[in-house]
Parts: sequence; C-alpha cells; structure tokens
Amino acid sequence: MNLFLTAPGDEPFLCDELKRTFVGAEAELLAPGLLRTEGALQTTAPLTLAFARQSLPNAEALSAASIREWSERLFSVATTQLPEGQPWRLHIAPHYGADGAGGNRAGFIREAFLELLRKKRRHLLRALDVAETPFCESTSLVQLLLTAPTTGFLSVAAAPLPWQLRRCVWPFVKGELPVASDKAAPSRAFAKLVEAEQRLGLRFAADETCVDLGACPGSWSYVALNRGARVIAVDRSPLRQDLMANPRLTFQQGDAFKFTPEAPVDWLLCDVIAAPERSVELVLDWARQRRCRRFIVTIKFKGDGDYGKLEPLKRDLPSLCEEFFLTRLCANKNEACVAGTVAGFGNSTTA
Ligand SMILES: C[S@@+](CC[C@H](N)C(=O)[O-])C[C@H]1O[C@@H](n2cnc3c(N)ncnc32)[C@H](O)[C@@H]1O
Repeated sequence: MNLFLTAPGDEPFLCDELKRTFVGAEAELLAPGLLRTEGALQTTAPLTLAFARQSLPNAEALSAASIREWSERLFSVATTQLPEGQPWRLHIAPHYGADGAGGNRAGFIREAFLELLRKKRRHLLRALDVAETPFCESTSLVQLLLTAPTTGFLSVAAAPLPWQLRRCVWPFVKGELPVASDKAAPSRAFAKLVEAEQRLGLRFAADETCVDLGACPGSWSYVALNRGARVIAVDRSPLRQDLMANPRLTFQQGDAFKFTPEAPVDWLLCDVIAAPERSVELVLDWARQRRCRRFIVTIKFKGDGDYGKLEPLKRDLPSLCEEFFLTRLCANKNEACVAGTVAGFGNSTTA
C-alpha cells in the first residue's frame, strides 16, 4: 500500500487528487492527515501531488511491543532491502496524540536501531546520510510512521525510488519544515520564500537577477537582496523604504501581469494576489518564453473549487522544466507554491 500525509484539513483535497491520479483505486482516510491507496506509484512520469506533504511508498502495517522490537524490525528491513554501499536516510516519526506525543519514543527507537547497526552492520551505519538535501539517484529512504506506541507503518524505498518520486517524497521528516521567522523582514511572507529555497535545495546566489512580481511590502525582495542578488520589484505600491533605497533594487510601479524583462533573468518570484488561473498561466508563459531560469510562484486560492486549477501545471510543466515541485508549503495558508528550473538554459547563468 502507499500512504500519504497531508496538512490538517487538506484530506478531501488530497483524496480528490489521488482519485484523479489512481483511477479505479480507492483512497481511504486512515487517520486525520493520513490516507492510503493501493494504486501503483508511477515512476516513469513522476507523480505531482500538491496536497501530499509526504508519501510512504510500499508501506507495510506492523506492530511491535517494545522499542527493542521496533529496532529489530528496522534492522531486518535495512539489512535485507537497502542496496549495498549506497547512501540511505531514516525518518522515524509519530502520527498520534497531541503535538509532540510519541516524539521521545521515535527518538529512542532510532537510537536503539542505530546501536544495533553499530554492533552488527557498521558499514550500513556509515552509509546513513543525515542531510535534508534533495535525494540523488543513489539515495534510499526508510520511513517508520508510528500510529500508536506499538503500531505503525514501515516503508522502504530503495534507490532510485525516492529520487524518482521526488515530487511527492520529501527529504524532510513527514515532509514538514519549521516555518521560519525574521523580525527584520517586512512581513511573514518571508517564510514562504525561505521554505521554497529549502525544498528546491537552492539559494539565490550573489549577482543573480530576480524579478519579484507583487513585491510589496518586500519580504521576498528582502531575502533576495540579503543573498546579494539584484532585484527588479514590480508592484502597484512601493516597498518598505530601506528596500527602495537599496542600490541593487529597481522598482517598477505597475501591473505585474504586463511586465516582461528585457533579457532572461535568473529567478521569477511572484506572490501576486490574483485568481489562481492567472498565476498558473503566468508561470507557464514565463517558462514557455524562457524568460526565467528558475521560478518560485504562489498560487492563491479563493475557494475549494480552485484546487483543480493546478492541473495545467502538472500537465505542462514536465515538458518545460528540468525540475519542479508543486506543493502546499508549511508556510502557505490558502495557497500553494510552484517552483522549479526551466529546461533549456544548460548550466549557464543568465541575466
Ligand atoms: C501578498 S502581497 C506580496 C507580499 C510580498 N511577496 C512580500 O514578501 O512582502 C501581494 C502583492 O501583490 C500586489 N498586486 C496584486 N495584484 C497586482 C498586479 N496586478 N500587479 C502588481 N502588483 C499586484 C499587491 O499590491 C500586494 O502588494
């Protein structure tokens, strides 16, 4: 079976996405935020699910009476199913009780399992990769999701499956990232951009050029400027005064949807408040015209009926992009984020 985690309240939207994706296979709600389907995960065309915060491919329901028993089960799958001599990652997390419940137990299970490896399979322990960077083709992933102290689901995704499924299997435990804060930023929109960077595994580089559409009051421009990038900010209203005074920022007052850069830029950033289909069309247009090498764009929803409007991104971005993701970020409210690298730029830096 395949399991999917989603944010609280997003279960019906993920259920709809799964029904559209796995035609004929039921999607069953097992617990708040946890769904299962028997449909086979496609790996030829990576699966894009905006409302799946994390996926556990080929999961098995298990029970174990003690921490030691859990660690032995993990040891048994790790030693039989992980490819030899290749990196692997380990996520153990609770999915029961109030916030934080089960966290200690997950930690003790991890320690007991690693101790077993230390005693009996040191080479596997050495191959354990604790990074949270995007998966590469040789990375495997073991996930244990505890649904109670003595029950849970164990998923082993041997390489290259995590990489193949990278649009719905994240390198973060339960697919979650803490929402960042910075009191010096003009607004909390700051957290969205920082999370998108983390999910892409990329940061703005010094001297890169960013177009920031719908930039006011300026948190996204603030992040890009802090990284040393140059910014063309477009909005109907000016940004915070100190940002407007920054020599690496150019402000253009006007309609974001009418703006076209004179030459391709490194990044399109867009957080405009607009109907979802307009933002979707804007991303596709910029990618088709190769106006940007990379993009991070917010799609704002107005009502539940809007979620299907993401489908053109899933359909068209695979042929336009080297890489992309479409997900509701932990820092998103009634929004989703689409971010990626446009195909056809090679490794050159543009602008
Ligand atoms: C959510 S705010 C952006 C926040 C910004 N990303 C930040 O980090 O501070 C949305 C912005 O989009 C702008 N906006 C909405 N429609 C626009 C349009 N058609 N052209 C330009 N700006 C627009 C609004 O003026 C508003 O400042």
